[in-house]
Amino acid sequence: MNMKQIPVITIDGPSGSGKGTVSQLLAIDLGWNILDSGALYRTLAYYLKKEKISLENFLDKKEQVKKAFEVNFDVGTIGEPVRVFFQGKDITQHVRTEEMARETSILAADPLIRDFIRPCQKEFRRLPGLVADGRDMGTVIFPEANIKIYLTASLEERASRRYRQLKTVDSKVNMRILLDKLAERDKIDKERDHSPLKPAEDSLVIDTTNLNPWKVLEEIKRIASGEI
Ligand code: DC
Repeated sequence: MNMKQIPVITIDGPSGSGKGTVSQLLAIDLGWNILDSGALYRTLAYYLKKEKISLENFLDKKEQVKKAFEVNFDVGTIGEPVRVFFQGKDITQHVRTEEMARETSILAADPLIRDFIRPCQKEFRRLPGLVADGRDMGTVIFPEANIKIYLTASLEERASRRYRQLKTVDSKVNMRILLDKLAERDKIDKERDHSPLKPAEDSLVIDTTNLNPWKVLEEIKRIASGEI
């Protein structure tokens, strides 16, 4: 079967826009596979750090990294983050930290890293379909996707969503610092030369500031019903 016949829905947007939750709801609802591309970048950052491989010697170590880079996702249950497995081990807690997010954002701006991750992402396109969550899913990785969604929300709303999420695992989170960090990360993701975060021209932009994830799911399913 031609890969291009396997349907894809892309969900892009900045951190805290709701794309993680909405992608999870959609994947569960449709019974499709999920690609959490942010988690793929986070896992690479985690592995490189663990192995003390820097960007400078990444090319020399590329074959080693390729062999070791075995990542899987479990869509999990609503309310819990999509689980990330590296070489069969659940590393969700290690990669879903703000510190890892920041390091990943810097690493992901490098073209060597993006070239490495590109084919890994495409491998997730399997039957019966794929929900691809990220920053450049509709613009670069799956430009031929059946449906492209771009989620956005105000910086304050996105920061308070992150705050509520982190508060459950870390009582010391500070809203002011979180807001600054989110703004900094948005800037890195939007201003980088390679695959910057932006809506695909043929995407549907949904502002989720005042919407709950179920409403967003409803809207996407309404669009999807005429397309796939
Ligand atoms: O969605 P996230 O917070 O897990 O993503 C972590 C970082 O990974 C994000 O700051 C930028 C990078 N990323 C990317 O460059 N391209 C993607 N498709 C997904 C994530």
